[in-house]
Amino acid sequence: MNSEQIRLVQESFRQVVPIADAAAALFYGRLFDLEPSLEALFKGDMVEQGRKLMQMIGVAVKSLDRLEQVLPAVCALGARHAGYGVREKDYDTVGRALIWALKKGLGEGFTPEVEAAWAETYAALAGVMKSAQAEAARTQPAALAY
Ligand code: HEM
Repeated sequence: MNSEQIRLVQESFRQVVPIADAAAALFYGRLFDLEPSLEALFKGDMVEQGRKLMQMIGVAVKSLDRLEQVLPAVCALGARHAGYGVREKDYDTVGRALIWALKKGLGEGFTPEVEAAWAETYAALAGVMKSAQAEAARTQPAALAY
């Protein structure tokens, strides 16, 4: 990602922060429309879950120009997802729901350039999480929740 894309993502995320709960609700609504079976994986309070998700995205977004600093945290997050029953293909569905929710939440501000920059951000995060998840599943199969 180039520095202009990083700026677009950081600036648009600033507009998401005040509407984070609503954006998270839009996101999960869309996610469970796209793939109803995923709803059963979430055991806790969905408002709390949405805040954790938004907070983690916020940390990554803030660090986009120095991602190596948050790499250990993102890897650990990916490894924990091995125990949540998440499949590799679910990352695509989550990415689609996230882009859709951002588009809905940001309205006209969500230009094609902003969308492309978010798609790259998500792909980078999901890529790291997927490899860490696969590694965790390979090395600690007992931790899997199947
Ligand atoms: C960039 C991608 C993602 C981010 C930033 C993210 C973030 C988080 C965070 C912060 C948590 C809180 C628990 C923890 O820290 O371990 C969590 C839990 C969870 N995530 Fe993700 N996640 C991502 C992708 C996914 C995907 C693709 C799925 C598939 C459906 C998923 C399903 C879950 C589930 C089931 C939980 C546990 C819910 C529970 O305990 O009830 N996540 N995620």
